[in-house]
Amino acid sequence: MAHPLQIRAEVLAVQSVGAYQQVLLRAPGVAARVRPGHFAALAVGGEDSSMLRRRAFWIHRADPAVETVSLVIVERGRGTRELLRTRVGGTVDLVAPLGTAFPQPAGPMTALFVADGYGSAPLFALAELIAAQGGAVGFILGAATAEHLFGVDAARALTADVLVTTDDGSAGIKGRATLPLAEAIKAIGAEAVYSCGPREMLQAVTAVATAEGARSFCAVEQGMACGVGACMSCVLPVVGEDGISRFVRSCVDGPCFDGARVRWTDVGTIPTDLDGAAAMGVH
Ligand SMILES: Cc1cc2nc3c(=O)[nH]c(=O)nc-3n(C[C@H](O)[C@H](O)[C@H](O)COP(=O)(O)OP(=O)(O)OC[C@H]3O[C@@H](n4cnc5c(N)ncnc54)[C@H](O)[C@@H]3O)c2cc1C
Ligand code: FES
Repeated sequence: MAHPLQIRAEVLAVQSVGAYQQVLLRAPGVAARVRPGHFAALAVGGEDSSMLRRRAFWIHRADPAVETVSLVIVERGRGTRELLRTRVGGTVDLVAPLGTAFPQPAGPMTALFVADGYGSAPLFALAELIAAQGGAVGFILGAATAEHLFGVDAARALTADVLVTTDDGSAGIKGRATLPLAEAIKAIGAEAVYSCGPREMLQAVTAVATAEGARSFCAVEQGMACGVGACMSCVLPVVGEDGISRFVRSCVDGPCFDGARVRWTDVGTIPTDLDGAAAMGVH
């Protein structure tokens, strides 16, 4: 788990990138603690706001040399709308880094990165690390439309093995990011697939990766309230190394999980064989 700081972070720049706003923040002390797969939680609406829940965002980039972190934000509802009204020079209340990051490989390996939309944001730092260690990387970047793709140029700067998919066919292959997955795993000989996007995509990525003999590491976006492990609003059923299934908190035990351990089809239910299910009134 990360060791987060709570700070007021100055907004240094806001840049439109397709459907997204890329927000650069000065975050003293935070950047050096960030690992790929960590997230940040931003307060919205000021001290008197009725919006009590912080909003969670993947940390896209962290640069300890200049004490900055960047986030990629899409306007969804009131919270993100208010956040994106903050002008350059203004500040936001930031808690970061949060969560358990992706496991980092100790040596060279071949990895495939699969994302939907802004889900690519937390993947680039890890892909660059693997490339810097002498490994090989490939990407499948998917989105609903061309405007919702994120990071295609950055991926192409890192590797020639980049596939783009869009649901409407406005860029790349028409279809979901999982469509070319099995072929892509074979083509680059991927030992592991790292993915971030909607739960259904992560489930499908894990199924294909496992069938192809690759590990699957997933960054999940489970709805969160406290973000620090106290409220249990973000739990997922996960099989532990002892073979026993338990609810684990995606904000502290995740959001990066071994996809093969997540009981994807049971998410949102209380499986009767779960450790502690009886105590929850499930018989
Ligand atoms: C670990 C994690 C990483 C995320 N990373 C990003 C990112 O990099 N970029 C980005 O644009 N968005 C990201 N999200 C989703 C982002 O948190 C929501 O879009 C945001 O909270 C919506 O708030 P809102 O008030 O604008 O929308 P509303 O729909 O009005 O939100 C109402 C409530 O629902 C919750 N909520 C709504 N959508 C989501 C969602 N998809 N996931 C979790 N909670 C949600 C909000 O936190 C809020 O409490 C991430 C979510 C998680 C859990
Ligand atoms: S969001 Fe509260 S325990 Fe995870």
